[in-house]
Amino acid sequence: MSIPIYTYDAIIVGAGLAGCAAARELQNAGKKVAVITKLHPLRSHSGAAQGGVNAAFSEDDSVELHEFDTVKGSDYLADQDAVEFMCQKAPETIRWIERMGAAFSRTPDGKIAQRPFGGQSSPRACYAKDRTGLTLLQTIYEQAHRAGVKFWDEWYAADLIYKDGKVSGIVAFNIRDMQIAIFNCKSVMFATGGYARSYKINSNAHANTGDGLSIVARHGLPLEDMEFVQFHPSGLSGNGVLISEAARGEGGKLLNSLGERFMEKYAPNAMELASRDVVSRAIINEIREGRGVGPRKDAVFIDVTHLGKDLIMQRLPELRDLAITFLGLDMIKEPILISATAHYSMGGIPVNIAGNVRKNNAEFIEGFYAAGECSCVSVHGANRLGANSVLEALLFGRFVGKTIVAEIDNIELRVATQEDAQTTLDEINWVLSNNGDETIPGLREELQQCMTDNAGAFRTKDTLDIAIAKVKELRERFKNIRIKDKSKVFNTELQEAIEFGHMIDYSAFIVESAVARNESRGAHFREDFDTRDDENFLKHTMAYMSENGDITLDYMDVVLGKHELKARTY
Ligand code: FUM
Repeated sequence: MSIPIYTYDAIIVGAGLAGCAAARELQNAGKKVAVITKLHPLRSHSGAAQGGVNAAFSEDDSVELHEFDTVKGSDYLADQDAVEFMCQKAPETIRWIERMGAAFSRTPDGKIAQRPFGGQSSPRACYAKDRTGLTLLQTIYEQAHRAGVKFWDEWYAADLIYKDGKVSGIVAFNIRDMQIAIFNCKSVMFATGGYARSYKINSNAHANTGDGLSIVARHGLPLEDMEFVQFHPSGLSGNGVLISEAARGEGGKLLNSLGERFMEKYAPNAMELASRDVVSRAIINEIREGRGVGPRKDAVFIDVTHLGKDLIMQRLPELRDLAITFLGLDMIKEPILISATAHYSMGGIPVNIAGNVRKNNAEFIEGFYAAGECSCVSVHGANRLGANSVLEALLFGRFVGKTIVAEIDNIELRVATQEDAQTTLDEINWVLSNNGDETIPGLREELQQCMTDNAGAFRTKDTLDIAIAKVKELRERFKNIRIKDKSKVFNTELQEAIEFGHMIDYSAFIVESAVARNESRGAHFREDFDTRDDENFLKHTMAYMSENGDITLDYMDVVLGKHELKARTY
């Protein structure tokens, strides 16, 4: 039976903020565009962003300060041209989404309310209570729908059609019935989100399995700065569910078992509002040194009781609900238990400011784009500031959409053929028919535990070597899997097997990139090389994977600018 081929001008994979924003641009420019998403769009992980979206609006703030904070927060690894572009376009982006209907919280005089966030010189995070991402996602999804964008919900993008240095579509299957289809087009954009699911304690949705990154890497294309994984300071103890930085932005205090506000030792000026890497390491350090709290002594307290019921209900209602649901603790009445949680991927598919995907340090791939967390335009460098990710996704999603509109008429459609689906067919048949004795949940648990233990907020060569060996071992054992469900209806076991293959691939990138970076910078903290080394490592990692899973490393220059390198203190 032949596989259906659907033809569009552009295909976007992923329906979060970046995907929806780009799709709307294309549709409004009269292009035929479709969004392929393995979820319902409103379940995309953008909707889980809680605390805010940055823009320098207020009288005592400026675009230049936003740039400076972002570059400093990045530990000077961010590309300053990209940072400038993002910070300059931020106020206009907030007005744009507001005009489309996003209901931001307001000050008493009717302005968009802004709250302090870590590492920022001024209250800069515009917010909608503690449901900012959901508010923005609902708005942009509605507008993309209204414009007429075609959404292929619950379709799993399994492969990129990439030949002779050019893309011509994707191969996907319908999760409902396993129907495979080819989506043939001139331009493909990946907006597939992040990959913190490879850690046991993480704040990410189950869907965040880094599919887009591994699909790209399997075509021999590079991934950039994969060693930089952000650990958010406040995940609910035990499960990592996000307790927004908004809790600290509104005045929450971090306390150890001695009742000490321990951030005084680590960041005497910024205290709880130092950058995330600094606060996360402080929390882990307090726990390591025996000042943890909770039944397992593996957490610290965040205390917002002094803010009072009215403010908490007005600005942090979601956080309160989460802590009651998962821990049985009411933050109005008592401190709650938190610890660091894997949260965000600074690295990803390398792109330039326009969103063109890099083939290598010097060349770009015609018709292939990426935006949002799966991409690395390097506005975050080695450590992202809170509320810059929602901004990045929305802003670059929109502007990459404009790039595609500008370039698409000069791209010729390469007609897809049935053979383009062969890799996907083979993969599915292999998973369904393989008859080994390993299970996906078992292998995944081992990967997540190993990554947490050995490639977390603190690393050394020795721990990373353990992780490298484990990832290789799991790659071999993956060949010996067996799934029980052989059906074609919502076969989530099959999907999880494919996703686990991706987790193995990008985890190899994380650990191999990390072991070669013999310095500490931002979120990458090497206990055996505990200082930043600008002489040898002020450069982006560009990593490539061979067919057998081996990783080779190259490096690319950082784009420097007016913000000069300094020691980073808070
Ligand atoms: O803490 C938060 O609300 C998360 C925001 C972000 O990651 O930008």
